[in-house]
Amino acid sequence: MRGLVLALLIAVPAAAQDAPTKAQGLAAWDDVYSVTSHPRCTNCHVGEGGIPMWNGLTYGADAVHGMHVQAGESRVGAETMPCRTCHIGVASANATPHAPPMIDDAWRLPPAELAWLGKSSDYVCAQLRDPETNDGFEMDELAVHLETSAFVAWGFDPGAGRSVPPIGLDEMITALNLWAAAGTPCANDP
Ligand code: HEC
Ligand code: HEC
Repeated sequence: MRGLVLALLIAVPAAAQDAPTKAQGLAAWDDVYSVTSHPRCTNCHVGEGGIPMWNGLTYGADAVHGMHVQAGESRVGAETMPCRTCHIGVASANATPHAPPMIDDAWRLPPAELAWLGKSSDYVCAQLRDPETNDGFEMDELAVHLETSAFVAWGFDPGAGRSVPPIGLDEMITALNLWAAAGTPCANDP
């Protein structure tokens, strides 16, 4: 017992010394950005214009969604043609190439302040560490949320030969937590 208490007393300062450095935090951020800049995420994470994209799907660079789809202010196309006309809200293996992806949630665009399409690493870094622009999350909640979002799960397992981000979801969450533990540094911080 006494030995255990001593071991704990010694272990605590050692753990504190292990807090990641700013350089390690910045490297972890690069991993996070390698996901948030991938088409499986940026095709939905577009800004105010509300036009989803078809990048990385063989239509060339800067390919907007076909059939004049516009998400509008509702972000679900309520003003014109609703997303659910084609993206039905049921779980699916999405095995048919070029069919509309379907997940067990209402297919929709994120709020405009979560825009990632064409945004720099530093822009997205500042956006994601700020609850004002990351949909209201503190860092620890954000990592938990990534595990439960049907959109995120689909992005890492989109089916039908679609490309996936360069690292897996577990690695992304590890990187996000490391970045947070390092104090969410961004490259252009003073
Ligand atoms: C089909 C569209 C769609 C795709 C694809 C998508 N997202 Fe999102 N994302 C959303 C929506 C909508 C929200 C806003 C929260 C909500 O309504 O669930 C969101 C919010 C987020 C948030 C902010 C926290 C939150 O849940 O509000 C993060 C982080 C995120 N997405 C990560 C990703 C990552 C990483 C990918 C790619 C692997 C991705 N998303 C792909 C639609 C999408
Ligand atoms: C008329 C049918 C139709 C409607 C309505 C529609 N989509 Fe799609 N969507 C498709 C098809 C088909 C694809 C697959 C294209 C491909 O893989 O070649 C697709 C693919 C996508 C992708 C790309 C997914 C990827 O692999 O990266 C996004 C993002 C998307 N849709 C968002 C939306 C949003 C948001 C709405 C509503 C505002 C919407 N779509 C409405 C038919 C539709």
